[in-house]
Amino acid sequence: MAYDLGALIHDLEMQLPHASDPTAAVQCVAHALKPLLSNRHLFDGDFAQALLAGDTDGRIYTSPQGFFVQVFAWPVGCATPIHDHLTWGVMGIYHQQLQIIEYQKVPGEQPGTFDLQESDRYLAQPGMISAVIPPSDEIHHVSNPGPHPAFSIHVYGQELERYHVFDLEQGEVRIAGTGS
Ligand SMILES: [Fe+2]
Repeated sequence: MAYDLGALIHDLEMQLPHASDPTAAVQCVAHALKPLLSNRHLFDGDFAQALLAGDTDGRIYTSPQGFFVQVFAWPVGCATPIHDHLTWGVMGIYHQQLQIIEYQKVPGEQPGTFDLQESDRYLAQPGMISAVIPPSDEIHHVSNPGPHPAFSIHVYGQELERYHVFDLEQGEVRIAGTGS
């Protein structure tokens, strides 16, 4: 039987309590998520359309442990702001491709300030895994450059109640999230 979302959730519930830190959690999730990305029947066309239309947020599962699993749809041209998460996260590319730009904080000109420096930029293809691990590897920008809608599957360590959005042009940081 093909590895499906139910099997992923079961494996994460069993394995994540043994992850000693965010890096171990990300490795655990990446290992479990990888085989899911080659299953062409994770969800049907109606669910895909509802995702693209914004009629569902794609949340598949919320664990008593705190992690959650969510499917994201990315219409052509869709882009996040530059943001962090303040928790670990793993994104698996399921269908079509996404551009991912990663940033690192570097000391700013004024004491106590920082700038963002691009550290990586790539087109993530189906089957690829991208992770964020706080506090040093968690700032990124994700977009769909087209020409087709894309889908990805995400697992986050906890609810995104509070995280940062970075505006490079204005040099500003603001707080975002479900709890803000
Ligand atoms: Fe993100």
